[in-house]
Amino acid sequence: MSSLMENLHERAEELQAILDGITEPLVLIDSGFRVRRVNKATLEFSSEPDFPSTLGRKCYEVLYNRSAVCPYCPMKDHHENETDFDAQFEGKGEIGREIFHVANDQKETLYLDFFPIRKDGSIVSIVEKISNITRIKEKEEENLRIRNLASLGIFISGVAHELNNPLTGMSLTLQNLMNNLSSMDPAFFRKRLEMIKEDLTRAAMIVLDVISFAKPDKLVTTTADIHETIMKAKDSVTWVYPVLSKNTEWEILSEPGMTFQFNPVKMERLFINLFKNSLQAYDYGEGKIKVEVRRTRNMMHIFVEDTAGGIPEDMLDKIFSPFFSKNKSGIGTGLGLSICHSIVREHSGELTVRSYDRKTRFKISLPLVQPKGN
Ligand SMILES: Nc1ncnc2c1ncn2[C@@H]1O[C@H](COP(=O)(O)OP(=O)(O)OP(=O)(O)O)[C@@H](O)[C@H]1O
Ligand SMILES: [Mg+2]
Repeated sequence: MSSLMENLHERAEELQAILDGITEPLVLIDSGFRVRRVNKATLEFSSEPDFPSTLGRKCYEVLYNRSAVCPYCPMKDHHENETDFDAQFEGKGEIGREIFHVANDQKETLYLDFFPIRKDGSIVSIVEKISNITRIKEKEEENLRIRNLASLGIFISGVAHELNNPLTGMSLTLQNLMNNLSSMDPAFFRKRLEMIKEDLTRAAMIVLDVISFAKPDKLVTTTADIHETIMKAKDSVTWVYPVLSKNTEWEILSEPGMTFQFNPVKMERLFINLFKNSLQAYDYGEGKIKVEVRRTRNMMHIFVEDTAGGIPEDMLDKIFSPFFSKNKSGIGTGLGLSICHSIVREHSGELTVRSYDRKTRFKISLPLVQPKGN
């Protein structure tokens, strides 16, 4: 008999040693919220001097210095005189909770796991495990901050990238005006002033984008003519890149009156970026940029194609990523296509690319009517 007792005693000591070896607080709690067993880490957590001072007392008092059941406790609807926690677990294997906890004036983030202990099929007690995840949380927040800063960096670079076109346009137009001031007839003068005004509108729209970045806005669309937008973009790139586009032939297979719902200023920026890429791929050489518009029942498909050499297969899935640039001049920032991609996505459309036989063909598919909520 005494050897049986000794054996049992040894087993109990062994179990306690195992529990004490675990560095996270573990507490066995009965259906009356009373502490039945704790490990050594719990004593440190609760600043209790020894095991007996914790046993039989309420868990909320020992662990969290409270006078009533903790408001975040998953068992808070359990009555102390009920004999099981079955209703709280409802078949769940365990319950987890993330909480803030203040200890010694330090704010900590804890993760509490509640494991059910069953007897005859009913949950008569629970083991609460307390993990201090403050450092992990801080690291996560730090990573989030870094990620946010990185996307802010991409966004700011994108704004600068897009402002560059209207600013260069305005500067060229102003220079042209100044050089020809004395000989210019009024109609020509007016035309130049209108070009400056349009560039100013483009720049203002980009600035508006910055404002709506802080306060996400819906895409503003109007019923506009895609042919007109394509022609405007073509005129804009040939004006801003006169030398690069000198030997370029344009084949525009669309006609006035192809109207549908989109944001013409943003769509123009998309074409400017695609055309600029084609011109850069031709690298001052001769070549053709072909644009084709096809309307289906619900969609408008626009194809932009050049034969400037194509894009290698293994590069195709990278070209839409921000800062991916491999153009011949080596001066690209790699933001053009990622901006195109987000403009198309904002319109609930799709931008895809195919490249074969030294050809590059971008396809922009846009819904004729913007879905509700856009
Ligand atoms: N029409 C094209 N023909 C060949 N390669 C292209 C074409 N369009 C894009 N690319 C490739 O995709 C890359 C990414 O294009 P993207 O417009 O995003 O950046 P970029 O032109 O290099 O720089 P940025 O547009 O910011 O000045 C280009 O560097 C180029 O290697
Ligand atoms: Mg580009």
